[in-house]
Amino acid sequence: MSKNKTVDDFFRSFSVVIISGASSGIGRAILSRISHSETKAAVFNLSRTAPEGVPNSLNFTHLTCDLSQAADIAAVVSELRKLMPSEGRMLLVNNSGFGAYGEFPAPGVDHTLRMLDVNVRAPVELTGRLWEELKARGGQVANVASLAGFQPTPLMTTYAATKSFLLDWSVALDAEARRHGIRCVAICPGPVSTNFSKAAGFASSTGLGGQTADECADEAVRGMAAARPVVVTGWKHKLLAVFSARLPKPWAAAIGLRMIRRLRLDRFVKQA
Ligand SMILES: NC(=O)c1ccc[n+]([C@@H]2O[C@H](COP(=O)([O-])OP(=O)(O)OC[C@H]3O[C@@H](n4cnc5c(N)ncnc54)[C@H](OP(=O)(O)O)[C@@H]3O)[C@@H](O)[C@H]2O)c1
Repeated sequence: MSKNKTVDDFFRSFSVVIISGASSGIGRAILSRISHSETKAAVFNLSRTAPEGVPNSLNFTHLTCDLSQAADIAAVVSELRKLMPSEGRMLLVNNSGFGAYGEFPAPGVDHTLRMLDVNVRAPVELTGRLWEELKARGGQVANVASLAGFQPTPLMTTYAATKSFLLDWSVALDAEARRHGIRCVAICPGPVSTNFSKAAGFASSTGLGGQTADECADEAVRGMAAARPVVVTGWKHKLLAVFSARLPKPWAAAIGLRMIRRLRLDRFVKQA
């Protein structure tokens, strides 16, 4: 059991939990919170590699899935239908995602399109294909967006836009789906120390630091348990989100460009 009864009760209220990207970072930390709750739910992870160190006490199944591939998503949904209990509330956590840094279309058009597939297409497709089950059973869809989703962000144009999509989509879906007993929560972390910067093409830590995956996951799961439509993790990030969302978008982009240039992130980019 964890120290937070509300969060434990929340995870125990589901018979099925599906999370993507629990092999690393924020997703792995959320999976730990799920296992600490001692839930009896059938828990499924979707990612290309399996999470390590999942306790045997958790009713856990890893389903290997490359979410940039539509065929993998179709196959994993039919596998889920065979394996998951047929009744009880369902929790879907769309967490898998990755970023990129540099002037568009760096590091390449194919990479950029894969990002759209994993960050946008996959959550929409997974949620859409499970929607009838979600409506019949009730539950929650938690979408891991980002602080980057609150404003247009030069040098991370496509990544930030994928997260803006996820944020707006999640909040609108929450308003629409409440009457079906489904809540949607957009989780918006600022910088978190995970494998994210490596996957985004940086050779070493950018020093932006921010939260640890555990700190981020603790806030995220509290927000999920409270069914808050938008959960920005970290108090500094909350202030930034309020500030940048109020700026006219061209101003936010211009200020963002100056701030990011000042960080000189180019220094950390992995050379091809
Ligand atoms: N770290 C940050 O600063 C930060 C800030 C804001 C938002 N976020 C968001 O938080 C989420 C988790 O990122 P993280 O920071 O925890 O990074 P991470 O440590 O790199 O974890 C990313 C996860 O996504 C999965 N993934 C990536 N590509 C995939 C694919 N093609 N198919 C299936 N799964 C895939 C990875 O699993 P496999 O490699 O095993 O497939 C991994 O489990 C992402 O959506 C990210 O955009 C992160």
